[in-house]
Amino acid sequence: MHAKGLEGIVVAETSISDVDGKKGELLYRGYDAGNLAQMQSFEEVAYLLLNGGLPNQSELEAFIFALKEKRTLPTEVQHLLRSLPKELMIMDVLRSCISSLNPKATWPPTKEEAIQLIALFPTIIASWIRHSAGKVPLEPDHSLNHVQNYLYMMSGNQPEAAHVSALTSYLILTMEHGMNASTFAARVVSSTESDLPSAICGALGTMKGPLHGGAPTGVLQLLSDVQSDTKSPEEIVREKLQRGEKLMGFGHRVYKTTDPRAIALRHVLKSTGGADQVLSNAVDIEQLITQLLAEYKPGRNLHVNVEYYAAAVMDAIAFKPDWFTPTFCVSRIVGWCTHVIEQSEDNRIFRPQQEYVGTRKN
Ligand code: ACO
Repeated sequence: MHAKGLEGIVVAETSISDVDGKKGELLYRGYDAGNLAQMQSFEEVAYLLLNGGLPNQSELEAFIFALKEKRTLPTEVQHLLRSLPKELMIMDVLRSCISSLNPKATWPPTKEEAIQLIALFPTIIASWIRHSAGKVPLEPDHSLNHVQNYLYMMSGNQPEAAHVSALTSYLILTMEHGMNASTFAARVVSSTESDLPSAICGALGTMKGPLHGGAPTGVLQLLSDVQSDTKSPEEIVREKLQRGEKLMGFGHRVYKTTDPRAIALRHVLKSTGGADQVLSNAVDIEQLITQLLAEYKPGRNLHVNVEYYAAAVMDAIAFKPDWFTPTFCVSRIVGWCTHVIEQSEDNRIFRPQQEYVGTRKN
């Protein structure tokens, strides 16, 4: 018997993060991720993950400087961006731009390469959003921090403090999450001694799928379906479950209780100005869906996951649905790069076995 979906299989030792699915706990380098999201900046937590400890003042300043220095899109990537078909999804644009970076990248991966990727993700996404809307992409504003600058480059306006705070919490809470599908994909690519941009392209392709990072877009659709004028939310959810539909934003391979990131984001939503109605609807629908999942799928322990409240938070800060998954990558690029570097420090190529169930023809 094989472990379908590698359930329960340990594929690596790591000291980056610990996901306790029974307790509902997530630690980054030993620190509770929820506490980090309340107390620390994006830059501090990115430094923590990459380097193993929180920075002192001078280390933090040097890290912020290095990120700002790499924010500007290289000229050849700007040209590439302008030549891409406008109907491309942002995830595909990211993948194309990352492929064109660092033609001389080799193995093992370095922290400098990681910093370049972390710095460039917001610039690529924001530049594409403006370019595809017929607007001129903006230059990064070096007076702003990483999250403020992302919001500024998307809108051209100075970002609202409540939006910066909500987005910072979301990005910290989703920066790293153990051996999820996209991180595993990145480690598999890197285990062949391929370069960091190739590993990140593998991760981007994996993240895009609706069962992983593509889920929040489906969450908004679910919330809108459920709030129909003709039927009650309960009737609609029952119909979906009877049809065997998967409800986006619920269920998790590891968490058999509520995802701690969802709990933290529920609080974030409360503090985001103007989100009162969004919040109360989201909380009511979460409760309804959790009850009905327990009825239709008893014993599976299906609870809300991070994507449900991620979608609600991003909706509350006026992000469009097709920005959700790329914005997830603005944070997860830190986890991906850190795992790829860790993989390179004690590498052995991934090469699992299969079980042949076909027949012999001759
Ligand atoms: N809605 C309805 N039923 C569900 C859901 C759901 N969201 N999630 C799981 N189930 C059911 C399955 O149909 C299955 O039922 P069965 O035993 O009758 O066949 C059972 O619960 C076990 O589910 P699996 O799909 O085997 O669980 P797995 O661990 O393989 O998948 C996953 C986990 C992909 C997250 C799944 O729960 C799902 O598809 N959720 C919806 C998509 C989603 O929200 N993804 C984001 C996850 S978080 C992240 O990636 C950042």
